Amino acid sequence: MLKNVKLKMKEYTIQSIVRVYKWDELAREDQALLQAAKDATSGSYAPYSGFRVGAAVRLGDGTVVIGSNQENMAFPSGLCAERTALFAANAQYPDQPVHTLAIAARNKAGFLSRPVTPCGACRQVISGVEQRYGQPIRILLYGTDGIHVVDGIEALLPLQFCDSCLG
Ligand code: THU
Repeated sequence: MLKNVKLKMKEYTIQSIVRVYKWDELAREDQALLQAAKDATSGSYAPYSGFRVGAAVRLGDGTVVIGSNQENMAFPSGLCAERTALFAANAQYPDQPVHTLAIAARNKAGFLSRPVTPCGACRQVISGVEQRYGQPIRILLYGTDGIHVVDGIEALLPLQFCDSCLG
C-alpha cells in the first residue's frame, strides 16, 4: 500500500562521550572524592539487596558531602546513594553549586569491576540540580577495571525534561 509514498521522516543520532581512566590517571581531588564515595558505602543500609552504594559530591567551595543508599522494608520508601548525597548537600549548603558527583558500589564480592550507573530517578534529580545552579555536574563512576567519567548528566539522560520546557 505504501510502496509509492515517499516518507518525509527524519532521524538524528545522539552521542555520549564517556572517558575511562585508570586510578593513577585521575587528578588528586577526583581520587579523593572517589575514595569518599567508596568509604561512604560503609554507611549504606542495604539488608534487602546486599548492594552497598556510596556517593560523594564536591561543591563549588570544595566542601564534600556524602550519602549512601538507605533501604526500607517498604521498598519504595528507601533512597539511592546519589539522591541521599545530593539532597543532603542542597539542604545544608543551598548556596553552593554541585561541581562533581562520585559513585561507588560493592556487593558481597567487593567493589564492582564495571561501575554502576545512576538509576532513572537519580538521573532526573541530577538534571534538576544542574538546572538549579546553571552548571553541569561531572560524574565519576568507580569500577575496579576503570573509572568512567562524563562531563554532565546530558551524557546519561539525553533529551532531558527542562525547566524552560514549561514555557
Ligand atoms: N542503588 C543506588 O543507591 N544507586 C544506584 O545507582 C543504583 C541502585 C541502590 C538502590 C537499592 O538500595 C540497591 O542499590 C539495589 O538496587
